[in-house]
Amino acid sequence: MILLIITVIMLKNRSIISISDLSDEEINEIFSQADKMLENLETGRKMNIMSSKILATLFFEPSTRTRLSFESSMERLGGSVISMADSKTSSASKGETLADTIRIVESYSDIIVIRHPLEGAALLASRFSSKPVINAGDGSGEHPTQTLIDLYTIKKELGEINGKTITIVGDLKYGRTVHSLLSALSRYNVKVNLVSPENLSLPRHVYSEVKGKLDLNTTTDITKYLSDTDILYVTRIQKERFTDKNEYAKLIGSYRISLNDVEKLKSGAIILHPLPRVDEISPEVDNTKTAKYFKQAYYGVPIRMALISMIAGD
Ligand code: CP
Repeated sequence: MILLIITVIMLKNRSIISISDLSDEEINEIFSQADKMLENLETGRKMNIMSSKILATLFFEPSTRTRLSFESSMERLGGSVISMADSKTSSASKGETLADTIRIVESYSDIIVIRHPLEGAALLASRFSSKPVINAGDGSGEHPTQTLIDLYTIKKELGEINGKTITIVGDLKYGRTVHSLLSALSRYNVKVNLVSPENLSLPRHVYSEVKGKLDLNTTTDITKYLSDTDILYVTRIQKERFTDKNEYAKLIGSYRISLNDVEKLKSGAIILHPLPRVDEISPEVDNTKTAKYFKQAYYGVPIRMALISMIAGD
């Protein structure tokens, strides 16, 4: 009990820039709090524990799930939201620096959620803010709250993370959700198969961080590990990161998960995807019991409710 209280207190006013900012105990406590939030959500009652607080969302890149689930979470906790959903409508379009934007927004809010196309932007924002900053995706860097959702979904749907085999497919080079997820998985006893076209393989710094901590295989062949897979984690090829659009055109459609692939998966396996999806999972898969990606997106709300209340609650 004392450890739990200390963990909750320790997250107070903390910025979350990388998944490595959270200890195993803190992650487990976020999951416990998310379970409570989920129970509350399912009763349909609005909580009133953040009524004096304001969450600011600053999105310099498009988003549906992350921004709206953070905003929904704050609303459900009884707090208020101010939002910059499009940098073209803010003074960033007049040339205002990120540092100056943050200096202003911190004076208008109690917690800031930021997404930015540049790796390191959330860290920079946290250095100019006396209020906690949550990284909602910085270029090809990290997306730590997506990883909390991914791990929580695995626990909810399969009961356990340890002992599982996870096959991660798609854009491992630019996919920030993959980078945060691999870092988190390296704390568990899991087997990981990495499937990508050769020129979208994992960046060297991410590979160096996790090799030796994970039982890791790499391949370009999607079929190779399907029968051994408990969790198939599919990702989109990140069109917006390519400087050469011809290169993207060559890679789009590299993998498309079909019913045929689903049939080859281990019994009881699930398919996750951080979404948005383009064409990497055939829509016919959506109606199979393996498809858990929409449930995964739903878990974004209880996870973010837990995180906001632990960081910015009284
Ligand atoms: N998973 C995720 O980050 O989705 P959005 O880009 O819609 O926020």
